[in-house]
Amino acid sequence: MTNPKILVTGGAGFIGSHACVALIAAGYRPVVLDTLVNSDARSLRRVSRITGVEPPLVRCDVRDAAALDCAFAEHDIAAVLHLAGLKAVGHSVSDPIGYYDVNVAGSLALVRAMERAGVRTLIFSSSATVYGDTPRSPIRESAPYAAVNPYGRTKVMVERMLADLARADARWGIACLRFFNPIGAHESGLLGEHPHGPPDNLVPYISQVAVGERAHVVVHGNDYETPDGTGVRDYVHVMDVAEGHVAALRHAADRGGMLAVNLGTGCGASVLEVISAFERASGRHIALRVGPRRPGDAPAYWADVQHARDRLGWCARRSLDQMCADSWRWQLANPHGFDEREPALAARAVI
Ligand SMILES: NC(=O)c1ccc[n+]([C@@H]2O[C@H](COP(=O)([O-])OP(=O)(O)OC[C@H]3O[C@@H](n4cnc5c(N)ncnc54)[C@H](O)[C@@H]3O)[C@@H](O)[C@H]2O)c1
Repeated sequence: MTNPKILVTGGAGFIGSHACVALIAAGYRPVVLDTLVNSDARSLRRVSRITGVEPPLVRCDVRDAAALDCAFAEHDIAAVLHLAGLKAVGHSVSDPIGYYDVNVAGSLALVRAMERAGVRTLIFSSSATVYGDTPRSPIRESAPYAAVNPYGRTKVMVERMLADLARADARWGIACLRFFNPIGAHESGLLGEHPHGPPDNLVPYISQVAVGERAHVVVHGNDYETPDGTGVRDYVHVMDVAEGHVAALRHAADRGGMLAVNLGTGCGASVLEVISAFERASGRHIALRVGPRRPGDAPAYWADVQHARDRLGWCARRSLDQMCADSWRWQLANPHGFDEREPALAARAVI
């Protein structure tokens, strides 16, 4: 099939919009399905500024069976990237049913609609949270499920459901991508993460301090058993994650069964290292205050990336400095997200 159409649920969001750029660059035609509950349709216009192609938007809920059937009937979909979901760990603790509904019931509704449409290639956005507080890094995919919050448990439930499905019906080709900590932005400065409300993640928070929108970054604990005492995570560039989807799509389209694979760099960086890298990228001082540890935060974890190399032929290519430089370019050009007048394309932009 030439230029196959790929349904991207959650495709207007942070990772989904970058995945659209990577799909178009690889010769696919993304069709986005999104409620826009945590995103902005103007992200798709930015995708077209970068690639010359604006993915069509089907504005509907992934739990809506009738709307899903219409989307599959209208577009000749070859495969699905499933990124639609809720992702705030803290919110999942206060509203677990809301999370199980969107993340688990949404995935079930999608799989049923795919079955009705005869589309059986699926790439699912899972998360390193499925490993919970696994003590030893690098973390391999064979580490047991040990999610410690409702968000992580929704990802475990969907992975288990998809594994059972792949075992029951060999026509399904499924990849569960366990993202570590996706950060950064497209290097054009046109596409990036614009959190609705206070950021949950470190780098959007640092960016807002750098532009003076917030006074300081709170470092949650500096007495961990890590080289500088602050928490260590595996930060991975969002465009590397986007390209990982393309690699997974090629893999799953060719073979049946289910593959679970880590998308990380294989290296950890501490909170203080990320702040220093951001200071280098922005040339600005980032004020910080040290607060207490947050309950449930692991001291350090990073991915074992051998499986991704061996099975998908994928590895992360972009450095922490590039992640920070790209985040900063996005933040400077779009201090209020997609509300801005369309910024100029950065000179280095290529897809
Ligand atoms: N960003 C991370 O750090 C991270 C890490 C691990 C896993 N993930 C997973 O990757 C996926 C994408 O994350 P993101 O960072 O791009 O988040 P995001 O919030 O930017 O994107 C999610 C998209 O899903 C849409 N959506 C939410 N509920 C929906 C529904 N019921 N029907 C249709 N659309 C709906 C939102 O509007 C949004 O556009 C999520 O499943 C998330 O759990 C993200």
